[in-house]
Amino acid sequence: MTPNERAGQRTTGAGPALVTGAGTGIGAAIAQRLAARGQDLVLVARDAARLDAVAGQARREHGVEVLTVPLDLSLPDCPARLAQQLKEADVTVDLLVNNAGAAVTGAVGGTDPARLRASVDLNAAAVAELSALFLPAMLARGRGGIVNIASTAAYAPAPYNAAYAASKAFVLSFTRALWHETRGTGVRVVAVSPGAIETPMNPGPGRGKRLPEQVADTVMAALRGDGPAVVDGRAYGLQAFVFSRVLPSRTAARITGSFFRKAAESRQG
Ligand SMILES: NC(=O)c1ccc[n+]([C@@H]2O[C@H](COP(=O)([O-])OP(=O)(O)OC[C@H]3O[C@@H](n4cnc5c(N)ncnc54)[C@H](OP(=O)(O)O)[C@@H]3O)[C@@H](O)[C@H]2O)c1
Repeated sequence: MTPNERAGQRTTGAGPALVTGAGTGIGAAIAQRLAARGQDLVLVARDAARLDAVAGQARREHGVEVLTVPLDLSLPDCPARLAQQLKEADVTVDLLVNNAGAAVTGAVGGTDPARLRASVDLNAAAVAELSALFLPAMLARGRGGIVNIASTAAYAPAPYNAAYAASKAFVLSFTRALWHETRGTGVRVVAVSPGAIETPMNPGPGRGKRLPEQVADTVMAALRGDGPAVVDGRAYGLQAFVFSRVLPSRTAARITGSFFRKAAESRQG
């Protein structure tokens, strides 16, 4: 029985949710929240063992069907291969959560160009391609959703985290545009921007830091809402507003640059 056949027997009537970057952090938390509402899952990331651990918890605690697909989504052919693999398995994705992401901090002039390129391919290109791959079937059914995880870094240029912030600005702009294109179709499209969240990407507690489970709750609320973009947490919502709408771009970049330069230096020890 495919995840879709099982899903049809559930009260939600929903097909599986595809969550990228579901092995740790925010993606793993979103996967558990979706499982708790009875949604079957397709989980994607590179590390198969971590995906299996998340899948095991979802099956054990919520009794859902979970398919794991270990893939490197920064590679050019992988989003299309994933869509083909799911088609062959007769799996129709009802909700796409583009969460996988990577940050390459430090000055662009001192960064490995290939690493920088791979991060942009993952954060931006894969998000656009996966959306284009899975949206047509959702439109045909008049039902479904796409949640793209951006960042508060999307709201201002960020020296010493330049490509990351720019790729998240792409996600935010792309999602806002897609929201317009899909209005009235029955497909819910929304960008969710977390601030600082305690995950393997951003480890350790810190002032104002939130938890992956709080972002997952924001994602679930965003799915019930109707706007194009949501920031996780009130303080980060205010920060995004100030950095994008109040401060001149140069001032915003000076502040974010000072923050990310210190963060990059402390990471280098
Ligand atoms: N933590 C924060 O402070 C914060 C703030 C704002 C936005 N975000 C965004 O939130 C999302 C989740 O981040 P997180 O904080 O939860 O970080 P995380 O715990 O490091 O999770 C990132 C996930 O993406 C997967 N991933 C990384 N590279 C991949 C690739 N090439 N192909 C497929 N999967 C890949 C990782 O698994 P593998 O390594 O096994 O592939 C992991 O499951 C990202 O888009 C991030 O930019 C995070």
